[in-house]
Amino acid sequence: MYCVRKVTEDLYWVGGNDHRLTLFENIHPIPQGVSYNSYLLLDEKTVLFDTVDWSICRQFLENIKQVLHGRDLDYMVINHMEPDHAACIEEIILRYPNVKIVCTEKAALFMHQFGFHIDGKLLEVKEGDSMSFGKHNVVFVFAPMVHWPEAMVTFDTTNGVLFSADAFGSFKSLDGKLFNDETNFDRDWIDEARRYYTNIVGKYGPHVQDLLKKAGTIDIKIICPLHGPVWRNDLGYLLDKYNKWSSYEPEVKGVMIVYGTMYGNTEAAANDLATRLVEKGMTNVVMYDVSKTHVSYLISETFKYSHVVLASVTYNLKIYPPMLNYIMDMKALNVQKRTFTLIENGSWAPQSGKLMRELLDDMKEITILDNEVSVNSAMKVDDMELMDDLSQSIIESMK
Ligand code: FEO
Repeated sequence: MYCVRKVTEDLYWVGGNDHRLTLFENIHPIPQGVSYNSYLLLDEKTVLFDTVDWSICRQFLENIKQVLHGRDLDYMVINHMEPDHAACIEEIILRYPNVKIVCTEKAALFMHQFGFHIDGKLLEVKEGDSMSFGKHNVVFVFAPMVHWPEAMVTFDTTNGVLFSADAFGSFKSLDGKLFNDETNFDRDWIDEARRYYTNIVGKYGPHVQDLLKKAGTIDIKIICPLHGPVWRNDLGYLLDKYNKWSSYEPEVKGVMIVYGTMYGNTEAAANDLATRLVEKGMTNVVMYDVSKTHVSYLISETFKYSHVVLASVTYNLKIYPPMLNYIMDMKALNVQKRTFTLIENGSWAPQSGKLMRELLDDMKEITILDNEVSVNSAMKVDDMELMDDLSQSIIESMK
């Protein structure tokens, strides 16, 4: 059964939701699902903007057939070639053999690499090229590394609709609510939007900044991303979040404590620090067990908070493996501009603090507080003064 929604008078959302997929990109949990958005414009020409993941192809084809209502499909604009959006290109060609594919040169290369049969179908465009579909004129704006090198966004200069590819997207299925103003985004969506951005595009902050600069020169009225809600008001809220995330500025002053514990003693030390911070007035404190929290959530929270405390047991004379995985992911995603504090634990040769400091050292624009607490097996009354000093240093570093 088809399920479509009108975005404007002649533009339709023809995507769908996936509640079945456990891991996005086979790595990031999506317990609340994900949407794959595609849009169909009915002008003098008919134009499809991107396709969808293979998992919802049947729904997608039904949606297109319904909206076209017997018309042929003239163009398929491919803004992004990652298979969660491009998997159905050949299915579209099979059903609409007259369709032309509008894309960048690199996207065409990727189509060949993925083995698509697209000979004679391609209309390659360059940065700044424009095209008219009748009433609607669009301009193509390249967005390399947001999130792949071939990516572009398409701006409809007639009505201010931006087809933004991966930019401004989010995890979480739409479940009928297509527009941001049909949701309480700040309550129900922001955490999944941040987790999507930081884990999928977070590494490419400078490229997102480039795109934001270009976006600042055009009069955007509606943002149509490839995942998550369509934005038709309060664009400043979203642009502000993207500006912070892509420049690696924390969203809030607060302390995220991530602990790696085997028997609860490192957790007890982390809890002692959290308590001291709260008693000193810093109530914006969150704690995460690194063994029980998927790293994608840790990354998302790291982009949110200004201060990060890493408390790790020493394991086989190294950093506790799940903590090491988290640190390496932070580095891979270019996390910057944070203040770190370290707590180590060990029963005979505690050295996770030193090893974590070495790993963090080459991250950009970070501060690692000098004083750290080394716990021998379990925190004791004698350690309290040092822990109190540590909490005071964190508080002072926030001023
Ligand atoms: Fe949702 Fe980079 O694809």
